[in-house]
Amino acid sequence: MATWPREPGPPCRVTVVPHGPVLVDGPVEITMPDGTTARSERVVVAVCTCLRSRRLPWCDTSHRTPPRSASED
Ligand code: FES
Repeated sequence: MATWPREPGPPCRVTVVPHGPVLVDGPVEITMPDGTTARSERVVVAVCTCLRSRRLPWCDTSHRTPPRSASED
């Protein structure tokens, strides 16, 4: 488990992808609104920013699909 504040070292790289996820150098722990913790050991983690992912908080590329319009319902 990570400690806070972080140990001195290189800064954590965070890359914002236009109209897509935020890429974060892993491993990553995210505290969810319900207090649970989502953890990933991946080298780079894609965190969803569009809230359309079915695997929140992780991006599942759903942001690439155009949103449905009200007339399609
Ligand atoms: S940013 Fe990719 S699914 Fe939300």
